[in-house]
Amino acid sequence: MTSKEIKIAYLEYESIDQLDNRDRELAEAAIEATKGSYAPYSGFNVGAAVRLDTGETIKGSNQENAAYPSGICAERTAMFYASATYPENAIEAIAIAASQNGILCDTPATPCGACRQVMAQYQTKGGRQMEIILVGGKKIWKFDKVDDLLPLIFDSI
Ligand code: THU
Repeated sequence: MTSKEIKIAYLEYESIDQLDNRDRELAEAAIEATKGSYAPYSGFNVGAAVRLDTGETIKGSNQENAAYPSGICAERTAMFYASATYPENAIEAIAIAASQNGILCDTPATPCGACRQVMAQYQTKGGRQMEIILVGGKKIWKFDKVDDLLPLIFDSI
């Protein structure tokens, strides 16, 4: 038997002003995208912004439904739209922000398991690492690739 360990490296920033210009713009787009959220059940307004390899930014937000499983997270809204509209372009980065009652949450919202799996799929499809930027009012976390949020990714069919 061998004991093994997986370590995750990420960067923590105190403010989006500490990000480089492109990442700051993506973080701001994610915050802006929270305004499109339709979350009458949870009151948790999530925004996501993806940056394509063309530099174009696409926004998405969570959309809830009275039949709960019919709703969808912000990240998948943005990624599905990006892939459906620009099937030839890789997603370079995704930023995610969440607000409640119009106020950006201090701590970053971390993507659910289903969204991580979808990120993994588009990272493989794009053939390059997808950066993930989780935007909170008091902390910003940046990961280099989806593998960091989903170790031992399933992608083997
Ligand atoms: N949600 C997202 O859109 N993204 C996340 O990363 C976490 C959760 C949504 C789903 C649901 O509409 C609400 O937030 C509460 O879970």
